[in-house]
Amino acid sequence: MDTVWMKEEEIYKAAELLIRGEVVSFPTETVYGLGADATNDAAVKKIYAAKGRPSDNPLIIHIANLAQVSEYAQDISEKARIVMEKFWPGPCTIVLRKKGPLAETVTAGLDTVGIRMPDHPIALKLIEISGIPLAAPSANSSGRPSPTSAEHVYHDLNGKIAGIIDGGETGIGLESTVLDLSDSSKPVILRPGGISKEELEAVIGPVMFKPELSNQTDVPMAPGMKYTHYSPSEPVVIVAENGIGWEKAIRYYENKGEVIGLLASEEIIKEFKPAHNCSFSLGKKRDTASASKRLFKGLRYFEETKATVILAESYSRIGIGEAYMNRLEKAAGNKVI
Ligand code: TXA
Ligand code: MG
Repeated sequence: MDTVWMKEEEIYKAAELLIRGEVVSFPTETVYGLGADATNDAAVKKIYAAKGRPSDNPLIIHIANLAQVSEYAQDISEKARIVMEKFWPGPCTIVLRKKGPLAETVTAGLDTVGIRMPDHPIALKLIEISGIPLAAPSANSSGRPSPTSAEHVYHDLNGKIAGIIDGGETGIGLESTVLDLSDSSKPVILRPGGISKEELEAVIGPVMFKPELSNQTDVPMAPGMKYTHYSPSEPVVIVAENGIGWEKAIRYYENKGEVIGLLASEEIIKEFKPAHNCSFSLGKKRDTASASKRLFKGLRYFEETKATVILAESYSRIGIGEAYMNRLEKAAGNKVI
């Protein structure tokens, strides 16, 4: 299949493809999504096939107006209403009890559905003019870093999907927070993301975060979180704040004959740049928003270089820093030095 590269002006062409049951990638404020008609089972199956995604990992439904929520979800609590009011459109996916005409494969057999309203003009317009809710995971091949540009999508999925709308680089760069409100007495963050725990707690009170609950068996999971994720082709190692430090870490890998790629802040790169000049800047030190925006691009960057190992900087877990560290730890398979 030829993958059609579309500019924003060709959004009607993209909507037509979606209505016909084809799969199209589009930009959101977080990462690029791979969309299909969430009410068409055959169309949704094409998403799983193109990504090579395990069929037990459910997809998020993207909507463009609040009225659509009650078409696909039920038992919508006051807390859910408050989160929608406060954070939509925006990077927060809300898991609710599902209802209505959703394709079975979208929710992978669960009785809940994840819904979000993306904060991106192209995404919103595409959902509006196609008139359908869009099931959309991140538009990467399963297991790879999520795409923050149309080129990343093309690299992974060219020939496997009908089209891509090029909307430039995405703003946030990490995926949405997934907040389970299917039991409103027990809000749980299943995946940290663009909206922090602190921001959520300011409007709905205590919110649990899955890692704090790892020994409780009755806590729901985002099924996707158990799979390998965000992995570039080279191994990634996190240089910990309180570990042996950059100098020793670099020497250790150089002595092993590795070619090091530095994925770090400007300041660290300036201080420790390896001789062969292989580095990707995450921005200024302690700027977690910049690091989050650039992380996935950086992980992909080293695939075009001679680097055989990526040493990556850790950031504090405040605000979006929690999501940054969550993705980096997965990319590194928790390898820390
Ligand atoms: O920012 C984002 O959320 C991006 C853009 C494209 O919107 N989408 C995205 O989708 O990251 P995906 O499929 O890569 O990740 C969705 C996550 C997975 O971990 C999945 O298991 C979880 O959300 N999820 C979806 N529906 C769920 C449900 N009903 N219950 C629990 N977890 C769910
Ligand atoms: Mg994904």
